[in-house]
Amino acid sequence: MRILLTGGSGDLGTLLTQELQARGDDVANIDMAPPKLEGADFIQGSILDREAVKKAMQGADCVVHIAAWHGIHEQQGKTPADFHDLNVTGTFNVLQAAAEAGVKKFVFISSTSVDDPYSVYGHTKILGEEMCRAYAHRHGMEIITLRPRAFIPSWNRAVYEDYAQWANWFMKGAVHVDDVKQAVVKSIDRLQGDEPLPEPAPVLTVDGAYEYTHDDLNDWDAEGPGSTFKKHYAEDYELAVSSGLDPARKPKVLDISLTRDVIGYAPVFSLKSLLAELREYGLQGPPAPFADRKQQQPAQRKHAP
Ligand SMILES: NC(=O)c1ccc[n+]([C@@H]2O[C@H](COP(=O)([O-])OP(=O)(O)OC[C@H]3O[C@@H](n4cnc5c(N)ncnc54)[C@H](O)[C@@H]3O)[C@@H](O)[C@H]2O)c1
Repeated sequence: MRILLTGGSGDLGTLLTQELQARGDDVANIDMAPPKLEGADFIQGSILDREAVKKAMQGADCVVHIAAWHGIHEQQGKTPADFHDLNVTGTFNVLQAAAEAGVKKFVFISSTSVDDPYSVYGHTKILGEEMCRAYAHRHGMEIITLRPRAFIPSWNRAVYEDYAQWANWFMKGAVHVDDVKQAVVKSIDRLQGDEPLPEPAPVLTVDGAYEYTHDDLNDWDAEGPGSTFKKHYAEDYELAVSSGLDPARKPKVLDISLTRDVIGYAPVFSLKSLLAELREYGLQGPPAPFADRKQQQPAQRKHAP
């Protein structure tokens, strides 16, 4: 099956390319930036260029629409007009080209930022989701919308100076990019299957895995700061504190029951996984799972999102 990724040269797109190619899919990628991996059919261009999108769509069986400016880009100087152009007009261009080419299977990467509907970013994703609903209805397209929470990977040194900074952010409640990749792959598989999608077209929250139970969260640190953490990760308590993590930090956990039901999503990466990586790799964290030296540049930002 030929899968067209928009924005396939970014963090999520690179991992997806790797995974889809490994299982034998034919991957195409339209992006302004060159890919970090070889092997995909790369169309260097912008999704704002309708002819380029049309060309990229040729022969596709499925589209994963990833390209967007997101939270981090707002902090890096992208304007509301930039956001509207890429996230709204760009999404329109990709949906319209898919409809014209008869490509029915479509995964849209939205964001939990829709919960902040009046923010520049959140609003553009709401408009994107709205367009997906219209195209599903008007053109009989099967569209799965995924709403991941933040997932910038720890090895992205343009954003995180070290693993501790990423880990501190992850402890607020987050999803690992590998689990977002899993959600996309499962969405593609669901679209390929025979069972029709539920109506209306599903919009699925993508969160990570947690060892904490409902009771833990409802009765957080009942026995003093850090006590809930100690209950699950006593052997890593000292390591966490000496690495600058706050064991008293309570994560916000999202409801992913619909995502489990519709695509069989089962997140894997949790705080336990994080502590195992911290033990194994220290503050440097694990390397990027592909050879991309650009990701190893020194940090330009001091504060995680
Ligand atoms: N990273 C997060 O924390 C996060 C959280 C929730 C949702 N999302 C969503 O996930 C998606 C991807 O996130 P990511 O972290 O992989 O982003 P990323 O910034 O790493 O990748 C985005 C890619 O889009 C490309 N792009 C930019 N303008 C383009 C254009 N005009 N035409 C074609 N390609 C263009 C960029 O070159 C880049 O390769 C986005 O839709 C984002 O809104 C991200």
